[in-house]
Amino acid sequence: MEIVFATNNLHKLEEIGSLLGEKFQLLGLKDLNIEEEIPEDHDTLEENASQKAWYIYKRTGRNCFADDTGLEVEALNGAPGVYSARYSRIGSPTFPEMEPAEGNIRKLLLEMDGKEDRRARFRTVISLILNGKEYQFEGIAGGVITRSRSGAEGFGYDPIFSPDGYEISFAEMDLSLKNKISHRARAVDKLVEMLKGM
Ligand code: IMP
Repeated sequence: MEIVFATNNLHKLEEIGSLLGEKFQLLGLKDLNIEEEIPEDHDTLEENASQKAWYIYKRTGRNCFADDTGLEVEALNGAPGVYSARYSRIGSPTFPEMEPAEGNIRKLLLEMDGKEDRRARFRTVISLILNGKEYQFEGIAGGVITRSRSGAEGFGYDPIFSPDGYEISFAEMDLSLKNKISHRARAVDKLVEMLKGM
């Protein structure tokens, strides 16, 4: 069975492709020559994942899924949340000269300066559209925001997020371990369970 993942991220495609196994042929946006930006202009992960998945379903008529992820920090009332990707660019840009991921980390560490409650969680929502019907899956990884960055693996906020049960950051972890316990892995497990049961 063919299924489209609304992403251009080859790393994500490979990761999910290997979990799905041979019964499924996973296609990315590049495989379909879809080059325009997919709209995601809502204020929740659920709405954005849904919007992206429906956009691709209507555009291609193929079964598909899309994901959206945010880092929700307790002491910041859930921020940056759905705005995680462009956190340092919201309002007056904090570190316009930096790579977005680096600027985001610097801004978050500044916002967390002096805060004792460091609890946070990554949350991923996947929307799957199968024959015109939508299903959503959520995956959560709880942890804390560290006081400084450490590690060079992974991407995004990984150097300042330490998951529950570990003393190290996601960026200090072997990718295979992160991929077992991450928010995305947990949401993908639910997606795969559903698809495999078909
Ligand atoms: P997206 O929904 O996967 O595009 O992610 C939204 C934002 O969250 C981006 O800034 C990513 O860098 C960040 N992000 C998503 N997943 C992870 C992760 O596993 N580790 C660190 N940052 C992540």
